[in-house]
Amino acid sequence: MKTYKIACIPGDGIGKEVVPAGEAVLRALAAKSGKFNFEFESFGWGGDWYRAHGEMMPKNGNDLIKDKDAILFGSAGDPHIPDHITLWGLRLKICQGFDQYANVRPTRILPGIDAPLKRCTPADLDWVIVRENSEGEYAGVGGRVHQGHAIEVATDVSMMTRVGVERVIRYAFELARSRPRKQLTVVTKSNAQRHAMVMWDEIAVEVSKDFPDVKWDKELVDAMTARMVNKPRTIDTVVATNLHADVLSDLAAALAGSLGIAPTANIDPSRRFPSMFEPIHGSAFDIMGKGLANPIGTFWSCVMMLEHLGEPEAAKKLMAVIESVTADTSLHTGDLGGKATMDQVTQAVIARL
Ligand code: IPM
Ligand code: MG
Repeated sequence: MKTYKIACIPGDGIGKEVVPAGEAVLRALAAKSGKFNFEFESFGWGGDWYRAHGEMMPKNGNDLIKDKDAILFGSAGDPHIPDHITLWGLRLKICQGFDQYANVRPTRILPGIDAPLKRCTPADLDWVIVRENSEGEYAGVGGRVHQGHAIEVATDVSMMTRVGVERVIRYAFELARSRPRKQLTVVTKSNAQRHAMVMWDEIAVEVSKDFPDVKWDKELVDAMTARMVNKPRTIDTVVATNLHADVLSDLAAALAGSLGIAPTANIDPSRRFPSMFEPIHGSAFDIMGKGLANPIGTFWSCVMMLEHLGEPEAAKKLMAVIESVTADTSLHTGDLGGKATMDQVTQAVIARL
């Protein structure tokens, strides 16, 4: 029997609630399958670790988890620690340290979910956004001098490399090819940003030659927001820069009904390092500790983990159960307008497995 070693990093806020819920569901799934099981190891990194040790994770943290098969991550963010410290000290250290350059964010309107686009049926909105996850606006290049003085200068330099852009565009073309509609939209802002974004456009044309069976088009990021709202059915797979896709994926999640549902996979396609799976929602301190978090984003992230681990049957089964649970509005958490607790949703998923 195959045993998958999973590093669990609950992080902060409701991450500490939804990650154990994800573990419980994966355990139930494994017990039912009889073909594989999981060995979870939990790491208490995040805001509390920072208060105790002055850093979000140990310096050798990535070494401690590099031999795992996958990482299940909750969220990083703490009201008493600046956001750039929580982000750069943990999540980005793992994503960039493990070269998880493709951040994959699917969006669908699941059964029973009331989405804000009234003219759109679930069949009209089935997207997957591929976010460049290793460089660009999140390269961390820049600086600040003369702080507090009138002559203060601050820069954030977006770094785009040919290798970095080519590999994520190629990943997106491959993903588009694997989906029924075989369609990709390459998003840039190459009218205003005339160097790196023009390079993106050029590289897209080059890579597209290897994918004659994929229909593709280009869109400027501002126009893309309008297209997502007005013509959702014209979109299937999308590839965009780190920052553009960050913004587009929140819009996508909101259009599908709730940020509480949306999953993410941070993938190292070379498989040299473990990939990391996480719900898209943040640490949500306003509801932490109350048992009100929506665990569906974590469960859907577990589906993506199972697909990555090579367990497509188990992934399909869990997704079908998730959809049967969202279809039952008595099992909706507060973010969906319901009254269910996280525990009730988790127990329902386990029972239906
Ligand atoms: C996301 C989040 C993060 C990001 C935040 C928490 C820094 O918004 O995963 O989309 O910008 O990458
Ligand atoms: Mg975001």
